[in-house]
Amino acid sequence: MSNLLLSYMSHKIIEITSQQTLPIRHQVMWPNKPLDFVKLINDDNGLHYGLVLNNEIISVISLFIDDGEIQFRKFATLTNHQGKGYGSLLLNEIIQVAIKKSASKIWCNARVSKLKYYQKFQMMPTDHTFVTGEIDYVIMERLF
Ligand SMILES: CC(C)(COP(=O)(O)OP(=O)(O)OC[C@H]1O[C@@H](n2cnc3c(N)ncnc32)[C@H](O)[C@@H]1OP(=O)(O)O)[C@@H](O)C(=O)NCCC(=O)NCCS
Repeated sequence: MSNLLLSYMSHKIIEITSQQTLPIRHQVMWPNKPLDFVKLINDDNGLHYGLVLNNEIISVISLFIDDGEIQFRKFATLTNHQGKGYGSLLLNEIIQVAIKKSASKIWCNARVSKLKYYQKFQMMPTDHTFVTGEIDYVIMERLF
């Protein structure tokens, strides 16, 4: 068995609370802001998933369902675990969740720097782009 397969064997993806997402959101995305900065106003209405590796949550993502459309937000993997495929495992899982929930589409506000990454998951860029805090974003979506 390859090392890559072995390293994936101890992971699992579970539903978590919004509170459990906060430390990773904070560390990865906005470490210099107060913890409250990474809370979303509608966190209580979201579904939150975590990838657990050796009893530690290392990657998180939050889903918000509105009128049959699912938006994912605050997707983050702990820095020392990035680039090992864990985020992709989590994203693939939540795409399956969207399909099981008969969503019409899944979408996100993607940093333009992540466009190619999301295209690997059959997400397509839309014409809708915007800039926030000097970061360029594009709305990406996958229709089901
Ligand atoms: C975006 C993010 C959540 C992805 O999580 P991740 O766990 O690093 O995701 P993966 O490891 O599956 O993929 C990351 C890269 O590693 C590559 N990769 C995946 N498995 C790999 C492996 N076994 N070996 C080497 N590279 C691998 C992927 O192809 C991908 O490359 P790309 O960015 O050039 O397309 C993570 O980078 C992150 O937290 N970023 C900061 C927060 C952020 O930007 N969030 C998204 C806002 S739109």
